[in-house]
Amino acid sequence: MRFLTLEDFKTSGKTVFLRVDMNSPMDPETMQILETSRIRESAESVKDLLGAKVVIASHQGRVGNKDYTGMENHAKVLEQILNRQITYVEDVIGTEAQREIKKMKDGDILLLDNLRLCAEENYEFSPADAAKTIMVTRLAKLFDLCVLDSFPSSHRSHPSIVGFSHVLPACAGRLVEREVRKLDEIMTVTKGPHVVVLGGSKVMDRLEAIKTLIQNGRADQVLLTGVIANVFMRAQGRVKFPLGIKSEDEVISKAHSLIGEYPDVFTTPVDIAIDRDGSRVEMDVRELDKGDQILDLGPKTVEHYVKSIHSAGTVFMSGPAGFFENDNFKFGTESLLRAVANSFATTIVSGGHLTAALKRYGLAEKIHHISTAGGALVLYLTGVKLPMIQSLEEAAKRYRAK
Ligand code: 3PG
Repeated sequence: MRFLTLEDFKTSGKTVFLRVDMNSPMDPETMQILETSRIRESAESVKDLLGAKVVIASHQGRVGNKDYTGMENHAKVLEQILNRQITYVEDVIGTEAQREIKKMKDGDILLLDNLRLCAEENYEFSPADAAKTIMVTRLAKLFDLCVLDSFPSSHRSHPSIVGFSHVLPACAGRLVEREVRKLDEIMTVTKGPHVVVLGGSKVMDRLEAIKTLIQNGRADQVLLTGVIANVFMRAQGRVKFPLGIKSEDEVISKAHSLIGEYPDVFTTPVDIAIDRDGSRVEMDVRELDKGDQILDLGPKTVEHYVKSIHSAGTVFMSGPAGFFENDNFKFGTESLLRAVANSFATTIVSGGHLTAALKRYGLAEKIHHISTAGGALVLYLTGVKLPMIQSLEEAAKRYRAK
């Protein structure tokens, strides 16, 4: 491996900072966690660290968004998965967190509060600057080892991701190790045409990554779904009214430039489904009215997308094609996932929602690689070196040079 793993360290008796990514979909009303696969994945490294004092840290949501919460419910879910007691502190870098860490005994597990409560964790830094943040200078002295296991946020250069690993011995956790091994194995054997089925809600992130995917020969055809499809349809002038999303003008103008630059790459839906009084109503995109909320792809679009998937050498699908949690609108997501699962292509499916959908439809076994990562995976596939991976490689070089 290009970096160190848990096999390289004797961890019992040590105090370990374990950065995981338990960022999960939340019910905006009850603030209950809707989907726990990332918490399950995070538990793997914790299990292999028993004997150490394990301080777990994660973010949840983005400041100002509805899914931005404390980590109390994550602690409860993790406790059930591990069947071990977890101390949850409503603090990240303050005196309470520090006191609780100092009190820990071997075998103890502690979960810090949402890292993004600390302002610094909402900014990107170089590793050297991240190491100088208050978060890292206050906490790093309490730890012997930094274990980075938040693969879904490996594209961020936040202090918890590139700062601790700059000043402490650092290695990858089980999830990062498994993802990188599997993805590197797949990427060496993939063949074209590369078909990307792209949805997901973080539109700005996706627009930036998709350009690099195309430029690096990893996306010959991009079949758009979800909010990002709506943005492209608006850029094409086929949706006539504002979408009501964040930074709307900016994302539409970016989509517009991408269509101009790569006119043969992007495919948008021709028909869609909306909700009318609790029923599914299908229509041509041009028939949409202001106030109609697009909740799924229509049958003509699905038929066309399925054909493209079947002619692919490699398929990468990220983000659901509609509101599949409601049976009226699962058609697009389920049909595309079935096509991906039954194709002869090398297949990668990404994101927590699709991971849950694959399990629900009994298709998980038929996919070559399933990752709960979203944006990080899209970027990983571009071939760009992600900040977390870079940080792990540098930590390995320092360790080996000793
Ligand atoms: C994700 O869900 O993609 C990761 O948890 C990263 O979250 P972010 O995009 O808010 O940094």
